[in-house]
Amino acid sequence: MIKIRKFKDEDAEAVADLIYESYRSFLSERLGDRFEQLCPRLSADHYRQTALHRTEDVETVSFVAEEDGKLVGFLQAEARAFGLGSLNLVATAPGSAGKGIGSRLFEEAYQFWTGRKLRKIVTSVASCNKTALAYYLRHDFVPEGYRKDHFFPGVDDIELARFLHY
Ligand SMILES: CC(C)(COP(=O)(O)OP(=O)(O)OC[C@H]1O[C@@H](n2cnc3c(N)ncnc32)[C@H](O)[C@@H]1OP(=O)(O)O)[C@@H](O)C(=O)NCCC(=O)NCCS
Repeated sequence: MIKIRKFKDEDAEAVADLIYESYRSFLSERLGDRFEQLCPRLSADHYRQTALHRTEDVETVSFVAEEDGKLVGFLQAEARAFGLGSLNLVATAPGSAGKGIGSRLFEEAYQFWTGRKLRKIVTSVASCNKTALAYYLRHDFVPEGYRKDHFFPGVDDIELARFLHY
């Protein structure tokens, strides 16, 4: 059974592996030899420090999906000033894609954003990442912009947004 819950510090190593592997799944072909240099595995400490974080203006929260004690999904969401929010990161484990885990994580983020009465949620996706683009469209995001060679030369970025109505 898949369980969705808030991130805990002890998840950090597994999250670091999951994010690295999932980004590799759609970027390594595009970046080739440059992948390791441009997209290194971030440390577990990075996730411990950033997954649940709060400043005066920004609240960051992260959720994980667990199946039989194994971490199979991660999503990080933010609430900012001016009624803005963002979906910073979402990934499912390579063998667990297409099973509804990304959508279950999204529901959790949606509760977080609507609980704070946010107005607009933004995210972005590499234009070559058709699966993630389909995932965002499925969750009612619409394209707002297109940034050529944005995070990496050779990888264009689509800006997406979803307005929340009450
Ligand atoms: C994008 C990602 C998080 C989606 O998670 P998931 O658990 O596989 O998605 P779900 O099973 O909840 O599916 C939700 C929707 O996404 C779309 N989708 C998912 N997998 C798809 C696929 N292989 N092809 C086309 N659309 C797909 C569908 O619209 C689906 O809705 P439906 O089930 O009603 O058809 C996952 O594929 C992933 O981790 N990808 C690698 C990391 C990544 O690209 N992260 C985003 C970076 S911006």
